[in-house]
Amino acid sequence: MDIYDIIIIGGGPGGYNAALAGARAGLKVLLAEKEKLGGVCLNEGCIPSKALLYSAKLLEGASQGEKYGLTVEKASLDQGKVIDRKNKVVRTLVSGVKGALKEAGVTLVMGQGQLLPKTGTAFAVQVGERQYLGKNVILAAGSRPLMPPIPGLRQQREKGFVLTSKELLDLRQIPASLVVIGGGVIGLEMACYYNAAGAQVTVIEMLPKIGGQIDGDIAALLQKNLEKKGIVFHLAAKVTEITEGAVVYEKEGQTHSLPAGQVLASLGREPNTADLGLTELGVAMAGKAVETDDWLRTNIPGLYAVGDINGKVMLAHTAYWEGERAVKDILGHEKQTGEAASGAEVSTSAVADYSMIPGVIYTNPEVAWVGKSGDLTADQEQKFYTQTISMRFSGRYLAENEGGDGICKLVLDKEDQSLAGVHMIANHSAEAITAAAILVYRKAAVQEIKDYIFPHPSLSEILREGIHSLK
Ligand code: NAI
Repeated sequence: MDIYDIIIIGGGPGGYNAALAGARAGLKVLLAEKEKLGGVCLNEGCIPSKALLYSAKLLEGASQGEKYGLTVEKASLDQGKVIDRKNKVVRTLVSGVKGALKEAGVTLVMGQGQLLPKTGTAFAVQVGERQYLGKNVILAAGSRPLMPPIPGLRQQREKGFVLTSKELLDLRQIPASLVVIGGGVIGLEMACYYNAAGAQVTVIEMLPKIGGQIDGDIAALLQKNLEKKGIVFHLAAKVTEITEGAVVYEKEGQTHSLPAGQVLASLGREPNTADLGLTELGVAMAGKAVETDDWLRTNIPGLYAVGDINGKVMLAHTAYWEGERAVKDILGHEKQTGEAASGAEVSTSAVADYSMIPGVIYTNPEVAWVGKSGDLTADQEQKFYTQTISMRFSGRYLAENEGGDGICKLVLDKEDQSLAGVHMIANHSAEAITAAAILVYRKAAVQEIKDYIFPHPSLSEILREGIHSLK
């Protein structure tokens, strides 16, 4: 039997990118996918939600056309056509990934992959009826929506009253009302779409602010903007039960029952670790996730876990990066020690710094951030300070966002005047945050940033403006 250099279980961003990296480096790679190539990201997450949200953005733009000197006869949204276009985008991307894998020489096998107990030095992996041998295995099986033991949640999910983002991204009829449980990333993006599409949307969030880890000032501004569009928020409100046709929550000691046409459960995600043969192999776990080190190695030599399955930062771009790191480790690339890359000769840092991963919430307005949080504790204030600047200092923002109230918050290190974090709320901030992420990664100093040329007018110019506004 042939022995593969790497067998990868799971064809989402972590898995397919690792497969491409391995095959392009000359390794013999097999990728097993049980359902759909591209995983959650391409088929039922990142990409489909962006397709829907763009339709919503255009609709909102058209209905505010007057602000921009346009006369638009009543614009409306055809949900069926929006879903059809989304499906077309997904098909195109999935076939692109399939083509790239084929071109790179990856063996793609459709079927559920499962590790078998080790008999020799190689790993044995069962996929469908067949067994394959691999010197290394990368687990990239992803995650699924978390369904906490809230009374009625499971029953109402089975009855189709409670949905996850997967079903919401395929709904062909807009419900009259949607109650979103959880005001995190998925909850906010879906609230934004369904509000624009015509549903009455209410978000119930347990914490006192929306958006999880996003900056407090930005969370407040986002909430204000979404409320203006008609989304209702109940914060510091905990959902305690789902009944036939209603969501029950507790706030300030009072119990409320909120009727709903449809409910979205966006309460987080949990790693897919079942049926992979992990227990039998003695794979160490960190809670519900597979435990990994900075190179995505598990406790079993040759076994790696990348993407949502390791539970570190559940984002597609984290999975890409981790997939590549795992392959680099397999290839035995020279590992660098010390600080972040500062020269061409330094390729990959031995320390995986997860604080350098940018985040985005694709609401309208969009939120993007990277690095140190702007919500400084008293302790952190000894070392860092923040500077907030209105996005209206960007000419492009002003031209394209009539009445916009976006901000950019910079976090700076007092000691060496380096950029430690950037937090933005403005449409297209996902694009501008890339420049910010590189500057933060390089620990660029204020003086250095002043030397860089930003295109004018552009959204990223706000970084320059923010730096120049420092006293
Ligand atoms: P999340 O962890 O972002 O948010 C879940 C929210 O539910 C939290 O704010 C939590 O406080 C709240 N909650 C929990 N129990 C509750 C209760 N009983 N009552 C009321 N509220 C309650 O999880 P989410 O939004 O499901 O997203 C899952 C993952 O998908 C995240 O890791 C996210 O980063 C990723 N994702 C990323 C996107 C992006 O990068 N744009 C888009 C969509 C998802």
